[in-house]
Amino acid sequence: MPVIVTANPKGGAGKSTLTLVLAQTLASMGGSVTVIDADPNRPIVDWRSGSSKLDFDVIDDPKESSIIRQIREEQSKKQFVFVDLEGTASRLVSRAITQADLVLIPLQASGVDARQASRAVDLIHEEEEALGNRSIQFRVVLTRTNPAIKTRIEREILSSLTAAELPILRTALHERQAYKAMFVRRLGIQELDPSEVNGLSEAQKNAEMLADELLEILKPETETEVAA
Ligand SMILES: Nc1ncnc2c1ncn2[C@@H]1O[C@H](COP(=O)(O)OP(=O)(O)O)[C@@H](O)[C@H]1O
Ligand SMILES: [Mg+2]
Repeated sequence: MPVIVTANPKGGAGKSTLTLVLAQTLASMGGSVTVIDADPNRPIVDWRSGSSKLDFDVIDDPKESSIIRQIREEQSKKQFVFVDLEGTASRLVSRAITQADLVLIPLQASGVDARQASRAVDLIHEEEEALGNRSIQFRVVLTRTNPAIKTRIEREILSSLTAAELPILRTALHERQAYKAMFVRRLGIQELDPSEVNGLSEAQKNAEMLADELLEILKPETETEVAA
């Protein structure tokens, strides 16, 4: 079943946040999910050590020598396998990308330009070449966007991505307190207390839209329907 890898050579782009939001949303929809946490800070391993009732597995500390085997093993058992990568190019990153059905490239919609996403795309193209030109699907995902308005910088980023012909997800991951609170509380966004977290239901809706768009892209790969 599909392997979804989040990659962007820049740290702080929102890889771990995007991975956890998608993994928990699919798990709460009834999907079977594994996250392989290859971020050196292990944010999702840390999250899993909390009291969340959400049912999905997290694999800690994959090694360069074992990452491909671990991905394949999980892929044979689960509907969705996520790999949350580190923010630098490495052999582990390359190997994980070779196994991906879809690479998500989160890009912060503030103060950066499309060149950063292009570097991540270059990395994917190098792996495609190494694989004898098997094509690896990818999408840029804008993160930390303002939920109320499309800012000037966001419009500029969107137009430079479009000019570079990079495919972009329709749904952006908005800047939301809930996406920080889930790490602090070690709970799913469905488990957070609405009286403590501003805009919680909007954050949940945003996550569902993102998961729906992901399912749409992965449709040919996803044999079993996830019960909504
Ligand atoms: N959509 C979002 N809303 C609010 N905060 C976010 C969002 N995405 C990322 N952040 C914050 O930005 C920082 C970097 O995000 P992270 O997911 O750890 O990036 P990466 O894994 O690419 O290094 C973290 O402090 C995280 O809480
Ligand atoms: Mg990370």
